[in-house]
Amino acid sequence: MNTVNKINRFLAGLPTHVVVIAVCLLWLLPAFGLLVTSLRPFQDINDTGWWTVLSAPKGMADYTASCAACHGDDGKLIATADLTDPELIGKYPRSLQLMAMLRKEIDGKPHMEDLPAPEAQQAADIANYLRRISNIENPPRFTASNYVDALVGYRGTTTYAKDCAAGAQSLDLKCNIRDLLNPRGMGRAFLNTLAVALPATVLPILFAAFAAYAFSWLHFRGRMALFAVLVGLQVVPLQMTLVPISRIYAQVGLNGTFLGVWLFHTGFGLPYAIYLMRNFLGSLPRDLFESAYLDGASHWTAFHRLALPLSVPAIASLGIFQFLWVWNDLLVALVFLGGKNPVLTYQISNMVTSLGAGWHLLTAAAFISMLLPMIVFFSLQRFFVRGLLAGSVKG
Ligand code: HEC
Repeated sequence: MNTVNKINRFLAGLPTHVVVIAVCLLWLLPAFGLLVTSLRPFQDINDTGWWTVLSAPKGMADYTASCAACHGDDGKLIATADLTDPELIGKYPRSLQLMAMLRKEIDGKPHMEDLPAPEAQQAADIANYLRRISNIENPPRFTASNYVDALVGYRGTTTYAKDCAAGAQSLDLKCNIRDLLNPRGMGRAFLNTLAVALPATVLPILFAAFAAYAFSWLHFRGRMALFAVLVGLQVVPLQMTLVPISRIYAQVGLNGTFLGVWLFHTGFGLPYAIYLMRNFLGSLPRDLFESAYLDGASHWTAFHRLALPLSVPAIASLGIFQFLWVWNDLLVALVFLGGKNPVLTYQISNMVTSLGAGWHLLTAAAFISMLLPMIVFFSLQRFFVRGLLAGSVKG
């Protein structure tokens, strides 16, 4: 009976589980592919998909089919024609030369005897494979060079590490640690985004906490009307205010400054923050505050000894929302900071347009920009559900 119950319950839950797993896969698979891609050398990214990362190198199958019979699986079987010798393979830089050589006769017999000669594409793959096993060009399967290149804003044709090893310094890259601050790189942009996001998260929450306390526990006339107006302000679309505010900023010299962006994000974060914080604070037990006032607590004491500690879940969830929103924001940063102090999103969008061929850097750049939000999310997520429910349950 018990096992039957168990099976029944399992079967009843099955559709939900299948759907949940499918949705998870739908999200995780592309993210995983992006991660794998970001760790591959760019030659490989241009050549094969990320799912081939653990399979045999390209050209190996063709080599085995056409050449291994005489040259051996490792290419070393014919001592006078060791295919792992870089000097020998260096004579055949392209598949054309290789094809020509294969068509020549050896000691009066065709090179490949009765085996069919490979087609052009196969020959190209075999040539690549030979360059790999002879170590002329043997990029590792995984590399961090995309991350390094994205961080320093490298825009050459090889990699930053290779260029620097060859002693090539460009105008804006000097091959020392200062390159991390190159204005075209993600390293500098990371710091800029941090400089935008931290105050733009702390300020609105701080002001909202003050305001929410006032709306919940101070008694003044027009309290509810003011609150309603504030909450109603949420309907003002951000895009509508970009032009007027940037004109005002131009007059007071705030365009292109961090202060301007902080103010903007604070202004637009406040209505929702106040709304959520007020609902949370307002649902705290009234007796608690009244007995505190009876004991002679001032509003300031009640605020920072009672209200603040009790509203940590609400503050945390607001913090996550506001931080993620500011971190991922492109529009406001583009309008008010532009290329002067580029943030991560600006830098990424710039990579798409100006680096059509360098999109391998894009994958690394995406992960660089995801890093901090993921840390924030996972460290604060235990507050998340509680905070989302803020104010919805009494008591
Ligand atoms: C039927 C046997 C056979 C097959 C199949 C064969 N080879 Fe060879 N290959 C030879 C022999 C024999 C030599 C000459 C060794 C010598 O010069 O002493 C040679 C020489 C070479 C050399 C050296 C040429 C030079 O510059 O001296 C290369 C490179 C080479 N083979 C590539 C290939 C590749 C690539 C394939 C497959 C597409 C292939 N071979 C298939 C037998 C074969």
